[in-house]
Amino acid sequence: MSTKVAIAALKPTAAPSPRRQRPVPPADLIRDDDFSPAGVSAIFDLAADVKKNPRRYQHALEGRSLAVLFEKRSLRTRLTFELAMKSLGGDSVFMDSAPQRIPDREPIADVARNLERWVDAVALRTFSHSTVEEFAQWSRVPIVNGLSEMFHPCQALTDFFTLGEAFGRNGVARGKVKLAFVGDGNNVAHSLMLTGALCGAHVAVAVPEAYQPNAEIVARARDIAAETGAKLELHVDDPGAAVRGAKAVYTDVWASMGFEHEAAERAQVFAPFQVNRALMAQAAPDAVFMHCLPAHREEEVTAEVIESPQSIVFEQAENRLHIAKAILLTLLVH
Ligand code: CP
Ligand code: NVA
Repeated sequence: MSTKVAIAALKPTAAPSPRRQRPVPPADLIRDDDFSPAGVSAIFDLAADVKKNPRRYQHALEGRSLAVLFEKRSLRTRLTFELAMKSLGGDSVFMDSAPQRIPDREPIADVARNLERWVDAVALRTFSHSTVEEFAQWSRVPIVNGLSEMFHPCQALTDFFTLGEAFGRNGVARGKVKLAFVGDGNNVAHSLMLTGALCGAHVAVAVPEAYQPNAEIVARARDIAAETGAKLELHVDDPGAAVRGAKAVYTDVWASMGFEHEAAERAQVFAPFQVNRALMAQAAPDAVFMHCLPAHREEEVTAEVIESPQSIVFEQAENRLHIAKAILLTLLVH
């Protein structure tokens, strides 16, 4: 038995509910499919309750602490995790690893085995996804992936929660609400595909040929979709095909953190993928516009679209906080 599994077994568990069996939470949230479909649903239930009744949870994590270690910049992820911890009665400490990478100063295994002596959970933002994986292998406390080059699970959970608020969770779970992601097939797209599959949702992804999502992640999302009834479409070089009839049009920056040096070249390739009035006109009449933020106006989205009444980007940003609380409660208290 790995140390992690042994420690997970020691974590306090809630008394079984006479009415309802809660799904067993994962030890960490490293990638979206660490949660089961039932686990995602439970996160949404908890986030909705936390959002409605914040005072009910104000002492839930009293005496507990979170370390936030980021190799890259952040507004939303850093602040929502720190604020979530504090408003649940706990505490958080931030360590800005930028511009270094965590292993530049000392081995990941050593950093992990220091932190587990001081805190109850660690949120990481890293360049390499393998840093998060290695960290989790050495850590006896839960690890939350606050974005790696491959995944952004906290964002995708927030996005499907927000979509459920906009159109109803049942509709999303029955594939009646098509979400079209238009842009770079990397971390955000990967997480939307996986979390969408776990939710039973309809996700259509449109990417330029040279920026397709990772084939193993697409295959994994398709496997999950086969179990949940989710629909996954992948369109190469055809944003219109993904957006037609969509209830949500989602995009992300063209040059993610770590790829800024490719910005000029990417601007050319991604130009036909800009979310503008013409592309939005191909979506459903009541479609919403979504973006994880930060956004670059007149690049991946026009100012007109992101500032329009269709835009729900600040609802997404608000929900990052409620989802962060639900994740921390699930990993630390279940
Ligand atoms: N969406 C998101 O993760 O934002 P930050 O990079 O500001 O954390
Ligand atoms: N894909 C973007 C997401 C930022 C929240 C990046 O990795 O920079």
